[in-house]
Amino acid sequence: MRTGTALPVLRASLCAAALLAGLPASAQPGDPASADADVRAALATRGDPARGLTAFEDCAPCHRKDASGRVNGSIPRLTGQHATVIVKQTVDIRSGRRLNAAMKAVIDEPPPLTVQAIADVAAWLQGLPVAAGNGRGPGTALERGKTLYERDCASCHGAGGEGEAATFRPMVAAQHYAYLLRELNLIRSGERGNSDPAMVKAIRPYADQDLLAVADYMSRLPAPKR
Ligand code: HEC
Ligand code: HEC
Repeated sequence: MRTGTALPVLRASLCAAALLAGLPASAQPGDPASADADVRAALATRGDPARGLTAFEDCAPCHRKDASGRVNGSIPRLTGQHATVIVKQTVDIRSGRRLNAAMKAVIDEPPPLTVQAIADVAAWLQGLPVAAGNGRGPGTALERGKTLYERDCASCHGAGGEGEAATFRPMVAAQHYAYLLRELNLIRSGERGNSDPAMVKAIRPYADQDLLAVADYMSRLPAPKR
């Protein structure tokens, strides 16, 4: 912690955040209030990328050591994703707000995942370059995909698929096609659980072919420059 110029009041609040950070994340299944508190606490905690690399050992069996995920779509790429998105989605999954039984079972194993560990992992992942070689779609409906994306999605996810950290909107560029397509189906049916209502409204009328087209388009957007 920087000491020289920090005002006492700032120092006090940083210490409070540090105290909070040592506590296990308190999310309970189906308790949105405690999930919101965990998101706020993790965002108020400065993440340490070096510790994040170590903490990620618990995640690597599924997400892979380099966090590149799987081209077959079973596991998303996490490299370069906004830290805010990593924090919110991890907490949402832990609280049951986003349904993911397999991951929840592992991260619920003792010792509990702390708020500090979530912040550390998020800081590490955000700093990594977007992994190359993501899975792409068949390339058969890219014009349609572009039209839909620019009409219905770019206002939130950005013209280049870069997302927006402050509003928890994920970077969708260069993500695995099969993962994007699976999530779009879960968003359309409401099964993902934590989706932005305005997005669900936009996607609900989509035909299967539209989901395919827009997922393919997003998978081919180049990794955003930083
Ligand atoms: C048992 C396997 C497994 C483990 C262990 C696991 N995950 Fe996951 N994770 C998944 C799966 C599967 C998904 C995608 C779920 C879906 O399709 O909705 C996912 C999704 C995510 C997402 C959402 C990404 C996005 O783009 O929305 C984040 C963030 C995440 N995991 C972080 C972590 C962290 C951090 C850890 C370790 C503390 C971890 N995961 C451990 C399987 C796992
Ligand atoms: C009103 C803003 C908004 C609009 C419009 C919107 N999204 Fe989203 N989207 C979000 C937010 C916020 C999330 C993060 C999920 C959450 O926690 O709600 C998300 C998540 C996603 C995800 C999951 C990404 C991941 O890493 O798991 C995909 C895929 C996606 N959006 C695609 C789309 C597509 C395709 C469209 C247009 C048809 C669209 N979105 C329109 C806000 C929006």
